[in-house]
Amino acid sequence: MSMAEATAKSPAKRDTFDSRLVFLMAAIGSAVGLGNIWRFPYVAYENGGGAFLIPYLVALLTAGIPILWFDFTIGHRWRASAPLAFRRLSGNGEVIGWFKVGVSFFIAVYYAAIVAWAAIYTVKAFTKAWGDDPETHLFNDFLQMDGTSTFSGNYVLPILFMMIGVWLFSIVVLALDVNSGIGKLTVVFVPVLVVLFTVLVVRSLFLEGSTEGLNAFFTPNWEALKDSSVWIAAYGQIFFSLSVGFGIMITYASYLKPRTNLANTGLVTAFANSSFEVLAGIGVFATLGYMAHAAGVGVDEVATSGIGLAFVAFPTIINNMPFGEVFGVLFFLTLFLAGVTSLISIMEVVFSAINDKLGWGRAKTAIIIGSIMGILSTVLFASTSGLVALDIMDKWTNNLGIVFCAVVALVTVGWITGRRNEVTQHLNAVSSVRVGGLYQLCAFIATPLILIYFLYEEVSTLLTEGYGDYATSQLGIYGWAVVAFIIVNAVVWTFIPFKNQTVLTGVPGSDYGVPSKGRPKGEPNPLAQATATESTPASERI
Ligand code: ALA
Repeated sequence: MSMAEATAKSPAKRDTFDSRLVFLMAAIGSAVGLGNIWRFPYVAYENGGGAFLIPYLVALLTAGIPILWFDFTIGHRWRASAPLAFRRLSGNGEVIGWFKVGVSFFIAVYYAAIVAWAAIYTVKAFTKAWGDDPETHLFNDFLQMDGTSTFSGNYVLPILFMMIGVWLFSIVVLALDVNSGIGKLTVVFVPVLVVLFTVLVVRSLFLEGSTEGLNAFFTPNWEALKDSSVWIAAYGQIFFSLSVGFGIMITYASYLKPRTNLANTGLVTAFANSSFEVLAGIGVFATLGYMAHAAGVGVDEVATSGIGLAFVAFPTIINNMPFGEVFGVLFFLTLFLAGVTSLISIMEVVFSAINDKLGWGRAKTAIIIGSIMGILSTVLFASTSGLVALDIMDKWTNNLGIVFCAVVALVTVGWITGRRNEVTQHLNAVSSVRVGGLYQLCAFIATPLILIYFLYEEVSTLLTEGYGDYATSQLGIYGWAVVAFIIVNAVVWTFIPFKNQTVLTGVPGSDYGVPSKGRPKGEPNPLAQATATESTPASERI
């Protein structure tokens, strides 16, 4: 389909992924991201090593998979972006969708910066252009970090240009229809990512000292399990890593055909994501073991997280290993590929919502909204004060934003509107596995309670202790003001009328909100089709 056709599409006539495989690649591409490669290994190591796998598995089974199924169901049954789906579900629910859009908006603007750094470091890896001192290179030469200004206004040109490239690329992908854009990109990038990453991990296992790293990673500290913060870390990791709670999986599932086996697709996505995560832990710690061995120090002295791991520890290792350039190019390329397939999924939450609201079509929305986001992103994060802004925004949007969005959605659907049975029934109607009371217990009771506790702890800590060594003005602007903006902006959007009012009216007995009158001639009632799958043999469901 051409861009013009995509633009002309009415919101009521929604794009659909060609097959379940395309959707699966898109969902895995979204889930597998920076959170898997640089966040998981260190979070696991810091929170009990091998013992962390227990809270991690508990969080995956009791919250990750149930909420992934919940998000899939909301998107599939109400067949819309997050705000419209929640509006169809409950008149006042639209604001919940806009919270998710706001959180995704801010995550996308900083995530794009890290994707751009990964792209630049892929090029640097060919010649080990970071020199003998990767730490000084990163902070002084590359980022030219200014840790004291709230906003420096000084720009680092290579980062600026690469960020513009990342935004243009993502805008083009999202301007196309979902199969030509998201579908084609992820069907190519995800398998390439898996192959490259496997090569990298296998190579790391043959490095001298790799077992020291793996011992450090997997040695369980059972005491850690008594600490509530370890459990909180496991839930936080699962939410960010699986891309649940902030609208991505709702949006992607809205592009599914009516007869799609949601529960199975969710299981495959969740286990693929976790396998990748554990593989990343093995690869990263085998490599850190090599570094510790070479330097004659303990693994604890070289283990670090986030940008320190990717952009300091890895270049240091690459400098010292035979054919380090190849290893370096592979590592940063995988980081880039994983990052870009997640970035487009986060952006799509925003684009899809605005397209549903204003009826602009995919191409116009991608160009206008993508440009606004791209400009904000480069203005903030290509500047020398970008790292400070990024670190604070990441903390607030993840630890408060995603958790808040998830709690509000679960409590509203489960208890305020009381539609938890309907969600469960829809999931069962289209899936070959059946869920029931245990699913409802996890999704609508246990997870909201745990997340409310998590939120309370996090807000209290941030209010009393602040975060890092940052100044109050830095935390105020990039943390609290961003959260306040997300809330106010969500309320404002609910007052803007939907361009195509027919998308709001429901047919009696259907909650898709695609009325028979407004439904394009010949297009079947999606709910009727979904429900019909009850009698469709499991083997015939896609
Ligand atoms: N799920 C994505 C990640 O792990 C956002 O980075």
